[in-house]
Amino acid sequence: MRQIKLPHLPSDIEERKSDLMTDLWYKGKETQIKQDTVKVKIRMKNIVIFGAPGSGKGTQSDLMIEYYGLGHISTGDVLRNEIKKGTELGKLAASYIDGGNLIPDDLMISILAKVYDEFGRGHKGVIFDGFPRTIPQAEALKKMLDERGDKVAAMIELDVPEDELMDRLIKRGKDSGRADDNEETIKKRLVVYHSQTQPLIEWYKKEGLHHHINGSGTLERIFADIKNVIDNL
Ligand code: AP5
Ligand code: MG
Repeated sequence: MRQIKLPHLPSDIEERKSDLMTDLWYKGKETQIKQDTVKVKIRMKNIVIFGAPGSGKGTQSDLMIEYYGLGHISTGDVLRNEIKKGTELGKLAASYIDGGNLIPDDLMISILAKVYDEFGRGHKGVIFDGFPRTIPQAEALKKMLDERGDKVAAMIELDVPEDELMDRLIKRGKDSGRADDNEETIKKRLVVYHSQTQPLIEWYKKEGLHHHINGSGTLERIFADIKNVIDNL
């Protein structure tokens, strides 16, 4: 880096010299920060938002969409939409969702690839909310993205104690209209989460993509932690 040589100045001007140096340093920093911001904005970031039922995946996704302009795929929303439209897929999905069970992997994977491709090329990144939920789904997601020259940049786990999950979902069930927000089905969803979905934490740790976040507390604090992960990718 080029050294800026300032002439020797009387002491009362020394302070201004040091101010000038500081100013120059800040200007350099400012340019650096601007360049970094541009880099951050153009790099694509696919994020897996992960957690148990009721952990806040949908809530935090909304904040990420607004802040980063990311796309969003909630497999639960995709399926509920099909149920609402009364399609064949919707009828099949309802038979699993109402019992708190997972939709078979092969069906889920083909739906996901189709929805992902609808974002076209050159998007800023997509949040995967509720997918993957099994190890075969995680492997399929990796393969699907790889075939398109894309990848997952981070898996963010929202960790919330079981009793709080239960409270949140029972509360939401009072007016959500979701068929799976009743005590019996919530319990089943949590069992399914522990047996089929939680093992993905280890899977993503091995991939070097896992980030743990305390999912209890205010929305703002949780989102600040998420931003801290995404901004440092
Ligand atoms: P899905 O729709 O993905 O549901 P889920 O995983 O059970 O999670 P939820 O949507 O209930 O919770 P969330 O984590 O989004 O939390 P939210 O932000 O809403 O899947 C439903 C079903 O579809 C599955 O059971 C399965 O059958 C099927 N399915 C979906 N994907 C599949 C796949 N890949 N493979 C196979 N089957 C699949 O928050 C919950 C509540 O808490 C809200 O009321 C919210 O306001 C509140 N809340 C959020 N954050 C906080 C906070 N910090 N403090 C207090 N309250 C909060
Ligand atoms: Mg959700």
